[in-house]
Amino acid sequence: MLKKNYLSLFLLFNIILSFSQNRKVIELSEGWKFQKGNPENASQIEFNDTNWQNVTVPHDWAIYGPFDKEIDKQIIAITQNGEKIPTEKTGRTGSLPHIGSAWYRKSFNIHENDINKKIILQFDGAMSEPEVFLNGKKIGEWKYGYSYFYFDISEDVLKGNNLLAVKLINKEFASRWYPGAGLYRKVTLTFKEKENIKHWGTFITTPIVTKSFAKVSIKTKVSSTHGKLVTKIYDKLENLVAERESSEAFGNEFEQNIKINNPNLWSPENPYLYTAKTSLFIDNKLKDEITTKFGVRKIEFIPKKGFFLNDSLTKFKGVCLHHDLGPLGTAINRSALKRQLTILKDMGVNAIRSSHNMPSLEQLELCDEMGFLFLAESFDEWKKPKVKNGYNRFFDEYAKKDVENLVRATRNHPCIVMWSSGNEVPDQWGSEGVKRAKWLQDIFHKEDPTRPVTVGMDQVKAVMASGFGAIMDIPGLNYRVHLYEEANEKFPQGYILGSETASTVSSRGIYKFPVAQGIMKKYDDFQSSSYDLEFCSWSNLPEDDFILQDDKSWVLGEFVWTGFDYLGEPTPYDEQWPSRSSYFGMIDLAGIPKDRYYLYRSRWNTKEETLHILPHWNWKGREGKKTPVFVYTNYDSAELFVNGKSMGIQKKTKDKTPQHRYRLMWNDVIYKPGTLKVIAFNADGKAVASKEIKTAGKPYQIVLDADRKTVNADGKDISFVTVSVVDKNGVPCPTATNQLQFDVTGKGNFRAVCNGDATSLELFHKPTMKLFSGKLVVLVQSTKETGNITLKVKGKGLKSGSIQITSIKE
Ligand code: GAL
Repeated sequence: MLKKNYLSLFLLFNIILSFSQNRKVIELSEGWKFQKGNPENASQIEFNDTNWQNVTVPHDWAIYGPFDKEIDKQIIAITQNGEKIPTEKTGRTGSLPHIGSAWYRKSFNIHENDINKKIILQFDGAMSEPEVFLNGKKIGEWKYGYSYFYFDISEDVLKGNNLLAVKLINKEFASRWYPGAGLYRKVTLTFKEKENIKHWGTFITTPIVTKSFAKVSIKTKVSSTHGKLVTKIYDKLENLVAERESSEAFGNEFEQNIKINNPNLWSPENPYLYTAKTSLFIDNKLKDEITTKFGVRKIEFIPKKGFFLNDSLTKFKGVCLHHDLGPLGTAINRSALKRQLTILKDMGVNAIRSSHNMPSLEQLELCDEMGFLFLAESFDEWKKPKVKNGYNRFFDEYAKKDVENLVRATRNHPCIVMWSSGNEVPDQWGSEGVKRAKWLQDIFHKEDPTRPVTVGMDQVKAVMASGFGAIMDIPGLNYRVHLYEEANEKFPQGYILGSETASTVSSRGIYKFPVAQGIMKKYDDFQSSSYDLEFCSWSNLPEDDFILQDDKSWVLGEFVWTGFDYLGEPTPYDEQWPSRSSYFGMIDLAGIPKDRYYLYRSRWNTKEETLHILPHWNWKGREGKKTPVFVYTNYDSAELFVNGKSMGIQKKTKDKTPQHRYRLMWNDVIYKPGTLKVIAFNADGKAVASKEIKTAGKPYQIVLDADRKTVNADGKDISFVTVSVVDKNGVPCPTATNQLQFDVTGKGNFRAVCNGDATSLELFHKPTMKLFSGKLVVLVQSTKETGNITLKVKGKGLKSGSIQITSIKE
């Protein structure tokens, strides 16, 4: 009873993540106080914070804006982009107010039952340069905003009330994208006995994997040098499949080898997870218990042949992702991450690169569960700066610690198949850089001998000359498709990874004429054409990569820049205001697919049909003008009809341009309002699928479509509702820009809205926004109460729309 009471008191403001007799993990999520600035004595217990803002963590203080050109205005030449002359740049870090310092304070209670426990305080990331105080005393600090780190606070806690205070500071010129600000990832307390399994002390690998058996190796670090360790392995249905008892520790580490017969192998298609439950007994008393999910899988990189997962050749069909979640900013939200991955899965993506930093632990858990391979990256900078106040300031003191923490905190995730120690680091130049590359790679190897290490390299000539590229486990090339052959000749490894590819730019639903390829092409409306023919001076079109991927067995796969648009880096509009988020995504900032999504889907999603027509067919004023039509499809050929009249059959071919091999293009279509219809043929020339789009009339009615109509009543879950308008006949209006208003009633809240327009300065958390190319997405968040939630959307002159979502306890 007593236990129950003190638990419920504690849980009033916190979330229990796991609980067993000897160990509990609590998330410190609610009841935080927050204040920008640096008030004196904010670390002290007596400090009065009643006027501070109440927030829940994860929290991003900067996402509420306003967008302001002055925030990240700089006169610089972006040397990575090949610029030599400094010009005025804005929007590079999203133009959101993330610079400056801020404090978080939170009280928590330590019950007398816990006062003699081992208590670990962990931050999954804190942006940035956190200084942590407990009851007025500084207990530690970190620097890099993306690192996981922890402190043992057993000796510092008091019985009863405790005060945790965290100071953060973001300097200007510290990032090349929107870094977010604050305690944007979770904060946890782990309580365990003094004799225990160490924090991040478990390392599970599968050194032998065959169809008939797997050898599972489990290394467990414990606090003492004696005792007994029992590990039980359970399958997905919680059946016990194997167990091992060991009473011999090597120093403070147990090593157990356990056999699983007929293992169910983990892969993107079959993300099967086992659970290892390890119990530590000292003098036959149970002291600690930890459960770890893991997968049984085998990875091999074979020269000239490629990457093999469980003996089958697997190309990386990957995307790079920055860590922000669009309108939510960088504050981690599991349902937003899950939605991202669900959309990517539909595209046929099988791999994610966490560019250019440590991923959130939630993202890794989801990739394990949903089946994605993962390239976990660490740094965008080593010792030589890219930005004045970047990681270069911390490299010497922190790089080793940061890599160790990355590996120790995440190494049991089967999704991770490769590490990356850096991205386009300026240290690629010169012999010091080669030494640094080796030094970092050796740290990864020491911490984890089972996975290779790569670096995303853009200075390909330099790394060929210096030996930098030759020493990497996996040479990763960023762009430079024209150098793949030469690099493969010069490097000894026998394979090349497209660690970053394409950087093609587009704005959802925006098409520019005449249709032509363009490098760093700019328009007066600061949008890029969705005909998918525009790219950067250092990059290329998707097909240049496709050809290498398809024709060269030594190319391991690619990670496209990027899956989703992200805040900041508005290339090619770095010099234009307002423009504050990227154009690189195959999916826009709101999570709505652009045309390019279907181009990749047509080759990556090999199970489902893709038949996508572009552009839209609402071109008032273009009557009689050439308006090319493209079709992205997995089929080889198709016939196009305008108002029933055939425009001929197009067939994919290797004999013309790279685009002709992967897209069907009718370049001479003359625009007439009406219906565009495409009929696709299979390899035998049989008509197998068709699709049509129509010219819409005036916007008439608002239409709502939720990604999930049932949410969890945990106060965090989000339903993403796509809002669009249709004409009187129900035809979608692709150019509508109506200003809409949102109202959420019942057991939910309006959380945010986003329309994917990189130039919009409307705020994400205000319940009004303009449609962009006829669409936007409203985020409706659950409360802790079950029941119905209604989202109503209205706009001047439009028939309103509404949708009901049900919130349940899952
Ligand atoms: C790469 C870089 C990325 C991003 C991209 C844009 O060179 O690694 O972070 O800046 O260019 O094309």
